[in-house]
Amino acid sequence: MQITRTIDSCREQLEGHRRAGKLIGFVPTMGAFHDGHLSLMRAARHECDIVVASLFVNPTQFQPGEDLESYPKDPDRDHELAEHNGVDLLFSPNMFEMYGGNSHATVEVSQLSEKLCGSRERRGPRHFYGVTTVVAKLFNIVQPDLAYFGQKDAQQVVVIQKMVDDLNFPVDIRVLPTVREKDGLAMSSRNAYLTGSDRERAAYLNRSLEIAEKLIESGERDAGLIAKAALAELERVDIEPEYLELVDAKDLTELDELEGDVLIAVAAQVGRARLIDNKLVHVPAKDETGSTIDERHREVTMTGAAK
Ligand code: PAJ
Repeated sequence: MQITRTIDSCREQLEGHRRAGKLIGFVPTMGAFHDGHLSLMRAARHECDIVVASLFVNPTQFQPGEDLESYPKDPDRDHELAEHNGVDLLFSPNMFEMYGGNSHATVEVSQLSEKLCGSRERRGPRHFYGVTTVVAKLFNIVQPDLAYFGQKDAQQVVVIQKMVDDLNFPVDIRVLPTVREKDGLAMSSRNAYLTGSDRERAAYLNRSLEIAEKLIESGERDAGLIAKAALAELERVDIEPEYLELVDAKDLTELDELEGDVLIAVAAQVGRARLIDNKLVHVPAKDETGSTIDERHREVTMTGAAK
């Protein structure tokens, strides 16, 4: 595995491959690797000829008072893990290489960046403006054919996909499932901040989402009722989430009555860690007779089976 710290050398190393028609896969990261990151690298290795990963703790997506200074860092371990998980080229620039001293251009996806975590009383939209700006820059530097992201950061995926669509980036976005610890806690570099009982409490985020998911599977369609049941699970361990919302998976608008692709998203401060998690659920549309398409499908199948 090659490690490169400059934009010029990154481009130089990829130029020959691109001209030779090799398929280039890209995994942007902020380091402190866990199995979530590694699953993206392995997926890229499986699908592409050349795998590039970036390791850059991007200051513009941290808000004042957030954990930029204390964000976990372990470059030697990261280099080893990247190499063992199929990365050919690791682009690891410093702040000056990425932004110079005089950077004025930004990429902002309006509306979607203002929902969920981006709402002004929470992290705020500037977090996502920082993400889209750095990802746009990285796409221009690496020029990948495919780029890999985790469903763990569901809003990030929706915002980046919109940026790619609206600005015609010639890159296909691949979204990989959330990798979890044994007790269901979504892996995150920030889990390192969890100590003592907070680590066990953190697993209730996933448990609350599972309760919501099960209610939907059992036919409940009232978002308010579902949210209430999920919140009760968090209350058991004294977690008061920043938000727990059931939203349209495409435009992130809040839903009352569930239908179509629904994202159940939660964010909460647990001890020192601000954690997010989500589940994506497909809710079949109701037809005129009131039964769901899935129910009707089941009826038809069962009738067929009885004959
Ligand atoms: P980072 O938090 O390092 O995450 C890098 C990639 O790993 C993201 O696509 C994220 O969704 C994915 N990921 C994190 N935890 C995961 C898990 N448990 N399962 C599956 N995938 C997981 O996200 C960022 O960095 C930054 O915002 C970045 C896109 C690099 C821009 O700076």
